[in-house]
Amino acid sequence: MKLKYFSHSAFQITTGNGKKILIDPFLSGNPTAPVKPDEVDANYIILTHAHGDHLGDAFSIADRCGSMFICVNELAEYVKAKGYNAHNMHIGGGYDFDFGRVKFTIAHHGSMTPDNTYAGEPAGVIVSADGKNIYHTGDTGLFYDMKLIGEMMPIDYMLLPIGDNFTMGIDDAVKAAELTNPKTAIPMHYNTFPVIQADPNEFKKKAEAKGINCRVLEYGEEIML
Ligand code: NI
Ligand code: MN
Repeated sequence: MKLKYFSHSAFQITTGNGKKILIDPFLSGNPTAPVKPDEVDANYIILTHAHGDHLGDAFSIADRCGSMFICVNELAEYVKAKGYNAHNMHIGGGYDFDFGRVKFTIAHHGSMTPDNTYAGEPAGVIVSADGKNIYHTGDTGLFYDMKLIGEMMPIDYMLLPIGDNFTMGIDDAVKAAELTNPKTAIPMHYNTFPVIQADPNEFKKKAEAKGINCRVLEYGEEIML
């Protein structure tokens, strides 16, 4: 399995059976994105919530790739109303797809589409494939139930925001990683805009001081999991 980082909260997972799963593909409006929307492929697009910096280029990618959306019910209904395929899920529920399992978690944030449509609760998502559990927290503040999430499903890779202002900042993100106790923490949602400037290496240093292994991904970097 491979994990590729496109900056902000945008990642692509490629599973052992060749399925490509995009999470929160914010590319064309993203000054830090290393690729254009027409340079990425997706069998599935998972959205953690509907804010523009997460919905991003999902529709244009789905137009080209025929992608299936996976999101919470209200956002899935919005996606379907736009004419796309979606699998409706909700927080606490998991489902087995042809690449692995997807489970949604809580996230403390908001969710409204760029055209001001209510899109249900924001979420985090755990993608389980090829024997690994990847927890993308979505946009969220720190919450103690992250401990429960890590206890119920040992997390191999935790992708978590550090940019502050809209989400956890560095110190809260370090605590989030301590609570969840992943094998590796990967920071996201930083340096995209002036209000979310944060040094990922400061996060790495502080997380590692607490015994959490941390990896900072370059924009465009792809790693084997
Ligand atoms: Ni957001
Ligand atoms: Mn965001």
